[in-house]
Amino acid sequence: MKITIKDVAKKAGVSPAAAARVVGGYGYVSTETRRKVQAAVRELGYRPNTIARSMVTKSTRTIGLVITDITNPFFAQLVRGIEDVTWQHGYTLVLANTDENREREQAVVYALQEKRVDAFIIVPASSQSAPHLEELFLQDIPMVLVDRAVNGLKVDTIMVDNEGGAYQAVRHLINLGHRRIGLILDNLDITTNKERMEGYRRALVERDLIVEQALIQSCQFTRQSAFELVSQMLRNSNRPTALFTANNFMTVGATKAIQEAGLHIPQDIALVGFDDLEWNQLNCPQLTAVAQPVAEIGSIAAQRILSRLKGDSASPMEIRLKTTFIIRDSCGAKPTQPIKETTP
Ligand code: RIB
Repeated sequence: MKITIKDVAKKAGVSPAAAARVVGGYGYVSTETRRKVQAAVRELGYRPNTIARSMVTKSTRTIGLVITDITNPFFAQLVRGIEDVTWQHGYTLVLANTDENREREQAVVYALQEKRVDAFIIVPASSQSAPHLEELFLQDIPMVLVDRAVNGLKVDTIMVDNEGGAYQAVRHLINLGHRRIGLILDNLDITTNKERMEGYRRALVERDLIVEQALIQSCQFTRQSAFELVSQMLRNSNRPTALFTANNFMTVGATKAIQEAGLHIPQDIALVGFDDLEWNQLNCPQLTAVAQPVAEIGSIAAQRILSRLKGDSASPMEIRLKTTFIIRDSCGAKPTQPIKETTP
């Protein structure tokens, strides 16, 4: 027979209202009452009816987490950084992927609203605002954006200094003697790629180098798409002497393309990537990378949403974390003379 909150209260020797407050995580209860109720819950194997509870507390103690792709190690680390904090505060995450697709993002946001999540943490699939995001804002449902911003959506947003990280990476390649550096990126409608492209441009312009549009190439948000794009680029006799890949999936696709073209990193083409992930140190050569503090991004996003859930009504914050530039083998040893350029 199903165990009810009244059974728990009776077992614990407290009122059903007190037992409900302990299980629901709301209102005041003494330490002793909490201890007795929690013991009764364990002994009876009670499982709260979250929907019934939410009718009372108007809270399901769940947070909708909308990301691009959980199979991407960046987002897996991000989710872990978020959950390590939200779980400690009694919240469960309900996760959904968007595959960088705005229509899918809208569908999952509406689905999570129907499940009465208390708040949202969203990695937006586009930098343009949209009705489903504006509705959350207008309904005063707590929402935090992570990794990318949305134009005009004034909510807490946690990102890194994409422009500065990309600038540092490309300036490093220029200092090694490269004058024609390819930029490989995917969804041009997200602020991370826009900002990384700006950092790439700033590094070139600062040294009076030409920003060749032909060297700036975008593809789909997949390793295979990056592989095909870079393979095509490498077949061109006028190929660049270095590549800057704007995220981890682009790096993986580019590395595979370089290897399958029979070329060697860094001797034939230098490589620097945005995102440092575990395999970068295992590869040969090891990747020179712009590392993001992914777990910290997640932790701060969780802290912000919890603060909003507690009624924090301060002005929205844009929090930018610093990246770390890690120099390894793939950028090439410092040449004694500028790397021989192919004819432009
Ligand atoms: O693939 C992960 C990349 O996409 C990261 O660079 C992150 O910033 C996101 O934009």
